[in-house]
Amino acid sequence: MIEAKGVFLEYPEGTMALKSIELSIETGELLYITGPSGSGKTSLLKLFMGSEFPTAGSLKVLGQDISRGQASKIRNLRRMIGPVFQDFRLIKGRTALENVMLGMRFLDVSPGHIKKNARNSLEKVGLEQKMLSLVEHMSWGECQRVAIARAVAREPALIIADEPTGNLDKDNALNILELLKSFRDANRAIIITTHATHLIEDEMDAGLIRMDNGTMSRERVGVFG
Ligand SMILES: Nc1ncnc2c1ncn2[C@@H]1O[C@H](COP(=O)(O)OP(=O)(O)OP(=O)(O)O)[C@@H](O)[C@H]1O
Ligand SMILES: [Mg+2]
Repeated sequence: MIEAKGVFLEYPEGTMALKSIELSIETGELLYITGPSGSGKTSLLKLFMGSEFPTAGSLKVLGQDISRGQASKIRNLRRMIGPVFQDFRLIKGRTALENVMLGMRFLDVSPGHIKKNARNSLEKVGLEQKMLSLVEHMSWGECQRVAIARAVAREPALIIADEPTGNLDKDNALNILELLKSFRDANRAIIITTHATHLIEDEMDAGLIRMDNGTMSRERVGVFG
């Protein structure tokens, strides 16, 4: 589902954020990416989402060769991804339900399907009572759940979550990881970056990658359980 060979990413002002990335991610895999601040975790996710492109090497994501960032391939790719951004990127002035529905607006599905999926997803994240609340009236943790509902409502083949445990205490971090993992299935991969290595060290059925100054090492191969 993801195949990276000799991938480098150099930002325009000269930072070499990723060096020589060799990576293969299978359908059904749950993969954690850890590593210190600035080591390249978000940069790697940006490549997978088609918001940055390799400056060298080849990259295939969900069947699309996006090594050179052709627009049509990027559009196809993005339809298949459910991103959960660290800052959520919810739209103010809109309800939770509207936010989740807006997340589906470029998919090729009917308005009825959109509404049904949006409601289902909000139920799955435990927000059935808050669907009609404006997101600016919701707590931080609730907004995080809206962001997750928006991602999964798209029925993505790949869920990508950047630091979802970031501002959370241990119990809430575990809850969010459990919630994200509940969307794991045989036709989907889930990639999560996290600093909270102590929370994931026992998860032997999950893959683990460590980033260090732009290079990666695979600590564990995840097997779909
Ligand atoms: N848009 C950008 N332009 C230039 N340099 C960037 C850009 N984004 C990131 N970088 C640099 O690339 C390197 C990797 O950054 P990245 O955001 O991928 O790290 P990270 O592992 O996600 O860090 P954190 O744990 O703090 O989120 C850093 O040196 C960073 O300063
Ligand atoms: Mg980051």
